[in-house]
Amino acid sequence: MINFINILFYSLGVILPILIIVVALIKPSKNKLKNVLNKFLVAVIIFLIFYIVKVGGINLMKKINDNNEIKTEHLTTETTKNTTTTKNTTKATTTKEVTVSNNQNGLKIIDGILIVNKTYSLSKDFIPKNTYKDATGLKYCSECIDKEAYEQYKLMKSDATALGLNIWIQSGYRSYELQESLYNKYVARDGKTAADTYSARPGHSEHQTGLAFDLNSITDDFQYTDEGKWVNENAYKYGFILRYPKGKESITGYKYESWHLRYVGVELATKLYNNGDWITLEEHFNLTSEYKN
Ligand code: DAL
Ligand code: ZN
Repeated sequence: MINFINILFYSLGVILPILIIVVALIKPSKNKLKNVLNKFLVAVIIFLIFYIVKVGGINLMKKINDNNEIKTEHLTTETTKNTTTTKNTTKATTTKEVTVSNNQNGLKIIDGILIVNKTYSLSKDFIPKNTYKDATGLKYCSECIDKEAYEQYKLMKSDATALGLNIWIQSGYRSYELQESLYNKYVARDGKTAADTYSARPGHSEHQTGLAFDLNSITDDFQYTDEGKWVNENAYKYGFILRYPKGKESITGYKYESWHLRYVGVELATKLYNNGDWITLEEHFNLTSEYKN
């Protein structure tokens, strides 16, 4: 379209005025100077009209293109989201891989995955958006989970129920303040070094993201229950990963937690499930999980 505007400008806005002037110059007339000046004026007016059309048209086209780009990007994100909501969805369609690191809010987001661990934290006032239930002003809320994650959780729960298993969210969204009081409580009880192996410092807990939750009993026994075994083998089909797998303590910085699930979407969860040999987000994205002090 921009090309068309340019062609229009050069053919009618430039060549036509030149032709008008040339014709006026070579055409014999009684008052030649007056005639040429008149035609020159007409040529300038034609030129200006087409120049305005060209500049205005190009600007308009640029605006339309920009809008379309934004829409396309949005659509791409939506497509990625949609492909992950369906149970057992295989690979996402051809979507652009977007990498944004340390964005303006200080969040570490890689390929759309928000990273929260001992290295990467959330600010005190971070409250997850697009949650099933609004988390604003709440310290604790098991339904204040990202809408998509919560829908997937419900799907997982109903499939588990059909098999005679009972899963529920024991601990979902936790505010910065709540995590602070929990962590402080554990430090007072077990000391800082021990607490750091199983409880995140405030701002460092995935529970603040609204993308993670603990299922059933927060004890090592959960892994041996039918629910624990089923969740370990099937959660990835719904887009969840076991965030702190067995044997990966030195990588995640936390003890094995069979009950803590994190939503990342089916595609990535399937990769990280790795046929039961869980890969951590740290390994996948080549990240550290270490406190600075
Ligand atoms: N138990 C995990 C590490 C947390 O406190 O978020
Ligand atoms: Zn947890």
